[in-house]
Amino acid sequence: MAQLAFNGGEPIRRAPFHFWPVIADNDEAALLEVLRSGRWFLADKVAAFEKAFAAFQDAQFGVAVSNGTVALQVALEAIDLKPADEVIVPAYTFIATASAVALVGGIPIFADVQPGTYNLCPDSAEAAITERTRAIVAVHVAGRPADLDALGELARRHQLFLIEDAAQAHAAAWKGRKVGAIGNLGTFSFQASKNLSAGEGGFVTSDDRRLAERAWSLHNCGRAPQGAWYEHPLVGGNYRLSEFQAGLLLSQLARLEAQTACRTRNAALLDELLGKIEGVFPLDPDPRITTHAHHLYIIRYRASDFGGATRDRFVAALQREGIPCSVGYNPLYKEEAFRTKFQDTPVMSAYFKGKPDYERVRCPQVERICAEEAVWLTQNMLLGPEEDVRDIAAAIRKIREHVGELV
Ligand SMILES: Cc1ncc(COP(=O)(O)O)c(C=O)c1O
Repeated sequence: MAQLAFNGGEPIRRAPFHFWPVIADNDEAALLEVLRSGRWFLADKVAAFEKAFAAFQDAQFGVAVSNGTVALQVALEAIDLKPADEVIVPAYTFIATASAVALVGGIPIFADVQPGTYNLCPDSAEAAITERTRAIVAVHVAGRPADLDALGELARRHQLFLIEDAAQAHAAAWKGRKVGAIGNLGTFSFQASKNLSAGEGGFVTSDDRRLAERAWSLHNCGRAPQGAWYEHPLVGGNYRLSEFQAGLLLSQLARLEAQTACRTRNAALLDELLGKIEGVFPLDPDPRITTHAHHLYIIRYRASDFGGATRDRFVAALQREGIPCSVGYNPLYKEEAFRTKFQDTPVMSAYFKGKPDYERVRCPQVERICAEEAVWLTQNMLLGPEEDVRDIAAAIRKIREHVGELV
């Protein structure tokens, strides 16, 4: 008789994991306060949230914006990116990291990631530098800080800006300091899945007053911080966050620290439990990561330890055992979006020695990770009791024991 739920057996788990978003009385009160105040525009909630979240991320300055994609656009315009300037981004990230570059007129240049961290590989980034490179975007994938020592040193040596895409990394810390203003600028997302959320929203952090003032201006119709309402020294958009979102983010921020601690505890237990199962591995530990935000928990799967069952088949089997999981990203340079973006334009690239031609890009680690290895669990699965994590490990163990049913 079949054991695996994949083949009709009894699943390990039927109960859902922790509900996300967390909705508490203080959230309702925060929204009602803004509603009843009648002050829905440029009142005090956005300003209070900017101050609170910048301080939370150890940044001197913070600008709240409408989402994480425009946060990146604003950061790239804050460094005054010029048409056809090149920006190095990892090929393993959400599309916004790279599309933001193209949306502000730059050329995204894809570099590979490290096999043990899934974050931007400093050597691969260095190999992609040309005379047109202006910035490197270090994405803290899954909430795990990228190697900010190596990437910071690389950026300094080549006089490039380092932008941290911290869309997944609220509360994450590198050597005791929260991420976001360790590089020249940092960006965050408060989209629905994120560890701090108002459904939509974004943020730009910096310790550099000049860059922060430019970011503020760019998100607010090009106004100057001390200027008149109808005075516009820059061409900017309207990327402001609303008072309602800021009110909700302030109430959600109050529990972020406790939620992060809970995810950290459960992730440590999952690391330990996976350590006892051949063929599934957490990402490599790094003592410089003092807080991993665990927006995702990424499992590295090795098919040869599972009788050759492909990663996709393993993911399907794990889902059927009642453990929601997914395979995650594809190599970004393969997206049609980039293959076609520059087709009918005169844009020339120093990196490509001609027209940007993403069909020539190869990032072997990203291709292997996307095709064979990565398995994603979402942050809410780490917010429940220890038993939830034990169920995840039990389901994986069960699949391994009965892998003959899969292959
Ligand atoms: C790494 C990364 N960068 C940028 C974004 C874009 O954020 P948003 O969806 O708020 O525009 C996201 C998330 O969606 C992301 O995961």
